Amino acid sequence: MSEGIKETKAWYETSYGKLGVNAQRRYPNEELVRFMARTYFSVPRNERSDINILEIGCGSCANLWVIAKEGFKAHGLDLCDEAIRLGPSIMDDWGVQAASLKSGSMTDIPHPDQSMDCVVDIYSANCLNEADFETCVREVKRVLKPGGYFFSYTPGQESDAFRDHAPAKLIDSSTLNGIYRESSMFAGNHYPFRFSHPDSVRELMEREGFKVTSIERVLRSYNGMEEHFEHLTIDSVKM
Ligand SMILES: C[S@@+](CC[C@H](N)C(=O)[O-])C[C@H]1O[C@@H](n2cnc3c(N)ncnc32)[C@H](O)[C@@H]1O
Repeated sequence: MSEGIKETKAWYETSYGKLGVNAQRRYPNEELVRFMARTYFSVPRNERSDINILEIGCGSCANLWVIAKEGFKAHGLDLCDEAIRLGPSIMDDWGVQAASLKSGSMTDIPHPDQSMDCVVDIYSANCLNEADFETCVREVKRVLKPGGYFFSYTPGQESDAFRDHAPAKLIDSSTLNGIYRESSMFAGNHYPFRFSHPDSVRELMEREGFKVTSIERVLRSYNGMEEHFEHLTIDSVKM
């Protein structure tokens, strides 16, 4: 495990330890819901239990419960033991059976080759620096079946927090050592925080054997339109 991943693990273990289930959202990410709808809308409910969906960096299951509730076979992986311990209580609150949850790093995914139909990343793989993210993309490719989907919702480089990031420092061309800009979303998240550019993410994904089917920008303003944060949605398929 790299020093950056150890730093992230320590930060999140403290956060989950202090705040419990309040460390993260309870509701699923809206872009994930849109991805699920456009990808699986036409699959009847009684055919979903054979579709294996893994969330890398699942936190305390704010997204996984809806995947399970919609009838898919839900799998979660998170770096933090505490998140994995909290997950079942959120699932239980929403009246769904616990998903299969494991602790570990998305740079070394504890699942067999070609065991997943879909892998999703909601604001988690951005905790990896560039080198670790390349390792993660190879791991996602390994666990996906041919034709399997990889969806990512991740920070984009048009964000004020990246363009004007002082006093944070760059640790490689797209990763900061944390969000130190006081007016930014995620201020105080002091661990490697990577911002993607659509061209470079497409180049990496295609080099690693994915076809990128869509990249869209979601630009949000915050603080009365004073602060802008760009989010990217990236849909890809394992070739
Ligand atoms: C911002 S939270 C998002 C959680 C969840 N995806 C959600 O949308 O509610 C980021 C999560 O990624 C996890 N994480 C960070 N680096 C990871 C890694 N290398 N492997 C697995 N999980 C990781 C953290 O422990 C944390 O739970």
